[in-house]
Amino acid sequence: MTQLKPLIAGNWKMNGLTASLSEIEALRAGIAEGGYGDAMDILICPPATLIAAMARLVEGSPIGVGAQDCHFKPSGAFTGDISAPMLADSGAKAVIVGHSERRAQHGERDRDVKAKAEAALAAGLQAIVCVGETAGERGMGLTLEVVGRQLQGSLPAGAGAANAVIAYEPVWAIGTGLTPTTADIAEVHRLIRERLGALLGAGVAEQIRILYGGSVKPENAAELLTIRGVNGALIGGASLLARDLLAIIAAQGTSAARAEGAPG
Ligand code: PGA
Repeated sequence: MTQLKPLIAGNWKMNGLTASLSEIEALRAGIAEGGYGDAMDILICPPATLIAAMARLVEGSPIGVGAQDCHFKPSGAFTGDISAPMLADSGAKAVIVGHSERRAQHGERDRDVKAKAEAALAAGLQAIVCVGETAGERGMGLTLEVVGRQLQGSLPAGAGAANAVIAYEPVWAIGTGLTPTTADIAEVHRLIRERLGALLGAGVAEQIRILYGGSVKPENAAELLTIRGVNGALIGGASLLARDLLAIIAAQGTSAARAEGAPG
């Protein structure tokens, strides 16, 4: 399998005011200084209130801006909701769909996630589709079954390498400091790639990036980002400060360089 360009994506969740944009200025400077722009794609998903301002700030840099959720309809009587075309209009290039916090706190089912992902694609956005098991499901040995089912149910029609990314995020690893073993992560990523192959064809599946998410930090990034089948990370807490995210980006840069230099 050819080496895919990794994606380092930050999910700010419900954090960040205008003042936080200074982190993006620092991030932009750090990425330029480290020369990381060619080695990977970098995406920050701030709250919707900051998308337009952040998009202006990153113009001409390797940083892209994404959103954290979208409605499945392009417009209509949905007070408080934001549609995919609105996100694109604000400068977003991508949107996270099916994050476990949306699934748990807003009752989003696979079919809702799929509809949102399809709305994203229709608006020209890349959909970052999240899947992952709870601690209880892992305890019962249901991880592969749950992840496989979520993937099948959430994947948008028309998904391909250019418009879809999968993020494997074990629910119990999000914001807890816990992470699965490298073998467990490799096993789930292998299953996801296999399922993508069955759904989309092996040629397409090979080109789709599969991120790991859940307590990725500067301290564990090098280990997590070099796991076979991991094509980058979705990062919550550690994406809020430029210093932390730059350390993770540097770890990704080093691992990409190592993979390139590796024989075979
Ligand atoms: P975390 O969150 O990095 O803070 O664990 C990851 C996520 O929810 O995407």
